[in-house]
Amino acid sequence: MIKIGIAGTRGLSTLMGLKNIEDVEIAAMCDLDEQHLKDSAERIGGNVKTYRVFDDMLESDIDAVIISTPMQCHVPQAIAAMEAGKHVMCEVTAGVTMDELFWLCETVEKYNKIYMYAENYIYDPRVQQVRKMVEAGLFGETYYAEGMYLHNIGNLFTYPNGKTSWRSYWQCGIRGNFYPTHSIGPVMQWFPGERITEVSTFSPGVYNTLGLKQDSGTTSMCRTATGKLLNIRVDCMSPRPHNMDYYHLQGTKGCFNSKAHGDDINRVSFIDEENDSPLHNMKWQKLEDYDMYLPDRYKNATEEQKQAGHNGGDFFIVDDFITALRTNTQPELNVYKACEWTAVGLLSSLSVTNGGRTMQVPDFRKNMPLDEKKITL
Ligand SMILES: NC(=O)c1ccc[n+]([C@@H]2O[C@H](COP(=O)([O-])OP(=O)(O)OC[C@H]3O[C@@H](n4cnc5c(N)ncnc54)[C@H](O)[C@@H]3O)[C@@H](O)[C@H]2O)c1
Repeated sequence: MIKIGIAGTRGLSTLMGLKNIEDVEIAAMCDLDEQHLKDSAERIGGNVKTYRVFDDMLESDIDAVIISTPMQCHVPQAIAAMEAGKHVMCEVTAGVTMDELFWLCETVEKYNKIYMYAENYIYDPRVQQVRKMVEAGLFGETYYAEGMYLHNIGNLFTYPNGKTSWRSYWQCGIRGNFYPTHSIGPVMQWFPGERITEVSTFSPGVYNTLGLKQDSGTTSMCRTATGKLLNIRVDCMSPRPHNMDYYHLQGTKGCFNSKAHGDDINRVSFIDEENDSPLHNMKWQKLEDYDMYLPDRYKNATEEQKQAGHNGGDFFIVDDFITALRTNTQPELNVYKACEWTAVGLLSSLSVTNGGRTMQVPDFRKNMPLDEKKITL
C-alpha cells in the first residue's frame, strides 16, 4: 500500500486519481486553515489523519506528499519532505527564486527521492496527440511555437474572508511571466530533446487597475539550444474571457492551431505531398481527423477518467506519479524540467525590468557544476 499525504486545497484535484488506483491510500491531509482541513478530510473520507503543520504530517508513516500549497511554500516543503524520506509531487511553479531551484535539484540528488512536477497542462489529450504527430513526422521539423495562458484571475486576489491571497504578490505582484509553465510545458512536448537556453521578455506596461505590480500582456521569447523559437504570453489580469491553453505549432510540413475561444475548434494543416499542392492552397482540417494519434490510454480512458479536471489530465498525472513510485524511477516531468521551465519565468522578471535583455537559462541537470549555478545576462 502506498500512503499519500496531501498539503493544500488544490491537492484534492488528485482525489479521483488516487481513489481509483489500487493499493494507494490518502493517509494524511495538511492545511493551515482549520475549517478547510475538516471539510477536506470529510471529502476524502476513510481514516485520513489531519495536520495543520506540514512538518507534523511528515512525521507520519506516509510514503509521499503532494504539495499543493501556495508557490512560495513549494521548495521549503519539498526539501523538508525529502529530508524526512518522503517522495514528492509538487504543484506549479517549482520555486520562486533561482537559488531555490538549484537547492531543489541538489536535494533530489542527495536523498534520491522521486520528484515529479505536477504540470497537468501537459496531460491535455490535444497536447499528447500533437506530440505523437510530431514524433510521427507529420509536421516535419518543428521550429516555432506559441503558448498562451490568458486567465483573468481578478477574483482570486482576495480570499472570501477579505484577506489578501498569495496570488496578489507571487502570481501578479512580480514583473515578468512569473507563472509560465502551463504554456511552456505543453509546447516543449513538441521539441523532442530540446532545452530552453535563452529568454527575452517584453511588455507594453502596467494596465491593470487593481494596483498590482505586474505588467499586462507580458511576452517572453525563448530560444532552445538549436535555435527554435517559443513565444510565451502569460496574462492574468487583462479584461477578456479565459483562454488558458492556447497553443500554436509550426513545422516545415504543417502547423497546429488550438481553439482560440469556446466555439472554435482545434485545427491542423499539412502540405499535401502526394498531390504536390502549392503551399498557398493549404487547407485547415480538424485535429480530431487525426485522433488515431491519441495515445492509447486516452483512447481507452473510462468516462470517469475523462471527467477528471483538465480534460482527464488530472487523472493521468497521478497515474504517472504512482508508477514512478512503484518503479522507483524519476518521471518524465522530473526536477530538471521543473526547474528549467520555472527558471524561464524567474529570469523573465529580470529581463523585462532590463528592457528585454536576454537572460541565459542554466542547463539544469544531474551534478550541475557550482560555477553554472548563476544568473547570466
Ligand atoms: N495545476 C493547476 O492547474 C493549478 C490550478 C490552481 C492552482 N495551482 C497551484 O496550486 C497551488 C495552490 O493553489 P490554490 O489555488 O489551491 O491556492 P489557495 O490559496 O486556494 O489554497 C492554498 C491552501 O494551502 C493552505 N496553506 C497555505 N500555506 C500552508 C502551509 N504552509 N502549510 C499547509 N497549508 C498551507 C491554505 O490554507 C489554503 O487552504 C499553487 O501552487 C498554484 O500555483 C495549480
